[in-house]
Amino acid sequence: MTEAVAFPQDRTCPYHPPAAYQPLREERPLSRVTLYDGRSVWVVTGHATARRLLSDQRLSTDSTHEAFPIPTERFAAVRSRRRAALVGMDDPEHNVQRRMLIPSFTLKRTADLRPRIQRTVDELIDAMTEQGPPAELVSAFALPVPSIVICDLLGVPYTDHEFFESQSRRLLRGPGVEDLEDARDQLEGYLGDLVERKRDKPGEGVLDDLIAQQLSQGHLDKQSLVELATILLVAGHETTANMISLGVFTLLQHPEQLAELKAGPELMPVAVEELLRFLSIADGMLRVAREDIAIAGVTIRADEGVVFSTSVINRDTDAYAEPDRLDWHRPARHHVAFGFGIHQCLGQNLARAEMEIALRTLFTRLPGLRLAAPAGDIPFKPGDTIQGMLELPVEW
Ligand code: HEM
Repeated sequence: MTEAVAFPQDRTCPYHPPAAYQPLREERPLSRVTLYDGRSVWVVTGHATARRLLSDQRLSTDSTHEAFPIPTERFAAVRSRRRAALVGMDDPEHNVQRRMLIPSFTLKRTADLRPRIQRTVDELIDAMTEQGPPAELVSAFALPVPSIVICDLLGVPYTDHEFFESQSRRLLRGPGVEDLEDARDQLEGYLGDLVERKRDKPGEGVLDDLIAQQLSQGHLDKQSLVELATILLVAGHETTANMISLGVFTLLQHPEQLAELKAGPELMPVAVEELLRFLSIADGMLRVAREDIAIAGVTIRADEGVVFSTSVINRDTDAYAEPDRLDWHRPARHHVAFGFGIHQCLGQNLARAEMEIALRTLFTRLPGLRLAAPAGDIPFKPGDTIQGMLELPVEW
């Protein structure tokens, strides 16, 4: 069994799993990886096994557990302080918070947001065409689309976007160990003040609903509300922004598939699923075993760490034929890019709608869109965070 593969590692190409994960791709459905601190943990690499384990309540997301697989030094600095709301909780505790949020993220609620998303996308493209070409697509488009939409949905003023976007970047990428803790305090301080202002003067948004229906009724305390708001604000813009930037880059590097999409924009919903599978931007879900789990001929022992390499799982040849090919005609929807089981992404309907509208409108309005720098020179994010482009210079 492979012992030497380090996890996580940087990608060599922004849309393929790290080349160094090749031994993991060959050793399915479970293997071992070494974390930054030298600890050896299980890594799940097989698709069917991943879905079984992600639905197994004997695996916990409690990051304060001593054996929790901490992927970076940054994360180690804060992990034992307190359990994260929602994502860091197991059922039944987790389910109490999840149920409070579900009504705000249904397919119906997301469908109602589509005209607003379309307007945002159109306005941003208007601004780009007024000022360019060229443009830097991350700051001009990929980041503001989800940022404006999540602000609208939550009831957070978009005028504060520079503050919360830069703190979210520090939270997810550092660079220093102290950045993560300080960024979290800054975001929680900001959202705590916002909750107080909303208590005095309610507005419209998910946070206002949570204040009226949960906080004021005594079902949720203020600290938990602020933690939930932080998760929603950060997860609600950073992830989708990365999918849009990396999605555009990937399409521009696959001219055949892009041409097919331009000729048949009705393919967009399946293309979004395939891009989610192919790009697997959240590459590394983390769990710790609470009990022994016998699976696929091995036993994961209680108090052992388990990581899920989404990029490897979503390219399992038992689940997808020719998985390294970007193909709009495969059924890709059962990918685990949004996770699976009780923690499966709450914002997935919203993210899908944003990606569909953003990509379709961008390539319809700017059919000549192309990279404005050699592809190999364009910087992308390191392996220890959510994958995406750091910059995306384009012209049209
Ligand atoms: C394409 C964009 C997105 C991707 C790839 C993504 C990915 C994921 C993944 C993999 C998980 C599961 C983590 C785990 O099991 O450990 C997750 C959970 C979550 N996501 Fe997303 N996400 C995206 C967009 C969003 C958006 C737009 C929101 C909006 C608010 C959001 C909110 C959440 C929340 C709250 C959870 C935790 C759910 C729970 O623990 O019950 N995500 N996401």
